[in-house]
Amino acid sequence: MLGIRYPIFQGPMGAGLSTPALVAAVSDAGGLGGYGAYTLQPEEIRELAGDIRKLTAKPWNLNLWVSDVDPSIANYTTAELDAVKESFKPVFEALGVDVPSLSISIQSKFAKQAEAMLAVKPAVFSFVFGIPDEAILKECRRQGIITAGAATTLDEALALEAAGVDVIAAAGFEAGGHRPSFLVPAEDSLNGTFSLVQQLHRHVRKPIVAAGGIADAAGVEAVLRLGASAAQIGTAFLACEESGASVAYRERLFSPAARHTELTRMYTGRLARAVRTELAGRFAGRENQLAPFPLQSQLMAPIRKAALDRGDSAYSAIWAGQNAGGLHHRSAAALMEELITGCR
Ligand SMILES: Cc1cc2nc3c(=O)[nH]c(=O)nc-3n(C[C@H](O)[C@H](O)[C@H](O)COP(=O)(O)O)c2cc1C
Repeated sequence: MLGIRYPIFQGPMGAGLSTPALVAAVSDAGGLGGYGAYTLQPEEIRELAGDIRKLTAKPWNLNLWVSDVDPSIANYTTAELDAVKESFKPVFEALGVDVPSLSISIQSKFAKQAEAMLAVKPAVFSFVFGIPDEAILKECRRQGIITAGAATTLDEALALEAAGVDVIAAAGFEAGGHRPSFLVPAEDSLNGTFSLVQQLHRHVRKPIVAAGGIADAAGVEAVLRLGASAAQIGTAFLACEESGASVAYRERLFSPAARHTELTRMYTGRLARAVRTELAGRFAGRENQLAPFPLQSQLMAPIRKAALDRGDSAYSAIWAGQNAGGLHHRSAAALMEELITGCR
């Protein structure tokens, strides 16, 4: 269906953590490399496709967020944002960084990004946080672009299937990064990969890609046995030198700290899994004091950057899945080799 040799997807990672080199390394090794492009401008997506195609002639996956702005932003006020800024002021002061000035008027980029995606024609268009309009899905079908949508619940998988999406990613709550729920709040959609894959296998006819908590050959074998047609791996590829993560970020993934992850809205306004921090703990249960996505993310960007630059583990946002504790590969080619040869 995809023209790939092994049922292994490299999980696309947004906000600069994917690279053409990582995509090419995985696709060249027979898996499906994926690029998380939700923060890119349409013209950057066109450039990116050229960069990836210079490195590999194999199929690859371009990933976007269907919902990239919380609807609640439409009614959000400057006074509300000022109150959020006030509650984070001690953190900015502690790191010695300025509170950024932000505009509350933020437009979705998705429609224009989808046009660019159709123009560059990746083998696979994957998406999270919703279902694209029928016109986009129809054009993908016409052009032979395989579509893959993420589900965190059976209801979401059935909605994706009813829309005619080709492949369903079962996104278990072990996974690093954001919970891509779109029917009910992410907090009410916390299924683990093990049970989600089995539920989908019982009720969904489309091929299922299991994502969340898979980091080695045994994990790949396990999800195939449960009914998945492929395994999607994010954190273990993020730890490889081809990813867009800095050296300090990757070192943290190999440190004992990565054994403890948590789901928090604090860093972006949407629920996401990251290495546990003292800062997220401080704001636990205070979700009403956070701005909607992506405003909260823009507010926290200087904190995330300063903390990472200084190796300040109390404040850094290190996205990681629950199974980060046992990572050992630092090259995507070596990780692919183990995944392939390790599976019976
Ligand atoms: C840093 C990071 C960023 C991610 N960004 C995206 C994204 O933009 N789009 C997406 O579909 N999935 C994203 N994911 C999810 C991965 O593609 C993958 O499904 C997930 O990492 C699998 O779980 P694992 O981390 O336990 O391997 C991200 C994951 C991480 C760790």
